[in-house]
Amino acid sequence: MLSDEIGRQFQYLRLSITDVCNFKCNYCLPEGYDCDGERDFLSMPEFTTLVQAFAQLGMKKIRLTGGEPGLRRELTDIIHLCSRTEGIEQVALTTNGFNLETHIEQWVGAGLTALNVSVDSLDPRLFHAITGHQKLQSILRGLERAEQLGLKKIKLNAVLLKQFNYHQLDDYLAWIKTRNVTIRFIELMETLDNQTFFDENHISGEKIQQYLLQQGWNEVIKPPFSGPAVEFYHNDYVGRIGLIMPYSKDFCAQCNRLRMSATGKLHLCLFGEEGIDLRPQLRNGDLIGTSEAIEAALFDKNKAHQLSQRIVGQTRHLAMLGG
Ligand code: GTP
Ligand code: 5AD
Ligand code: SF4
Repeated sequence: MLSDEIGRQFQYLRLSITDVCNFKCNYCLPEGYDCDGERDFLSMPEFTTLVQAFAQLGMKKIRLTGGEPGLRRELTDIIHLCSRTEGIEQVALTTNGFNLETHIEQWVGAGLTALNVSVDSLDPRLFHAITGHQKLQSILRGLERAEQLGLKKIKLNAVLLKQFNYHQLDDYLAWIKTRNVTIRFIELMETLDNQTFFDENHISGEKIQQYLLQQGWNEVIKPPFSGPAVEFYHNDYVGRIGLIMPYSKDFCAQCNRLRMSATGKLHLCLFGEEGIDLRPQLRNGDLIGTSEAIEAALFDKNKAHQLSQRIVGQTRHLAMLGG
């Protein structure tokens, strides 16, 4: 199994398949996607080599991300490629949900096992104010369809924003009273492009945690290296809450994931480095060379990001790298 110098184990790959996005989330891409010419994303043969290499190195879970992965025509084929690769047990997708309603059946048919959808508000007007889109009702229908299709692992992501959706926390809680889904509140992260917005909208995840504990929510005890989210359950609620608190102490100690950009760079962290280019090996279908490059790269993984010192490295926005 892949591990680093301080003993963190990696069985989870976040694979970005495009950095293009069609939403304009105010904390991420407020002006929309700024296309800077021809994009040369990984091809199906390159994905095949990559997924095989990671599977042979012991990866068990692949999450497809973007940008918006639903914008890539090959998404269903990529899900299928991952699900039929020996060793890969979970194929997950993180999406803004714009084509969830029309495509979920196809994705589940190709082997999708888990789904995370951004729903930054349950109120259509506020949803529009945050994302620039009117898609909320269609996304909610898509989520319902996913449940009907038997998908067990469904999560809603909401980035909590002081001036927008923070006051709607209780609406989210009410929504999962009878629904078997997890809502994850994500603490806003600073990037190079959102610094003023961050100052105006950041709320500490620990404050949300205190509120949940006061309301009778209990922390779920998780096995080591099952990811940095802290989970909560409540006896009166069917659904669960997840909190992603990147500014809390020891967040990175639980890191269990590696990232690939849509153009073939391996990133050891969301923040900081430029990425290690695996494209030369992938272009040649060089399975051994790809595996060797991945193993060698892990020696350089940092112990932690430096967000608390407001050091965000080269990260302009999270669509660059799939969050
Ligand atoms: P699961 O696979 O269901 O555990 O979800 P996930 O948290 O890995 O995936 P998702 O794509 O839904 O990510 C939700 C949010 O968590 C995004 O805002 C990510 O940027 C953030 N996030 C995920 N992994 C990391 C990480 O390693 N570091 C930091 N700082 N944020 C992360
Ligand atoms: N801070 C926190 N979460 C973010 N996301 C995108 N940008 C940020 C940010 N700056 C979230 C999206 C999506 C997930 C993949 O990342 O809302 O749910
Ligand atoms: Fe697109 Fe996701 Fe960024 Fe929103 S957060 S603009 S959906 S990449």
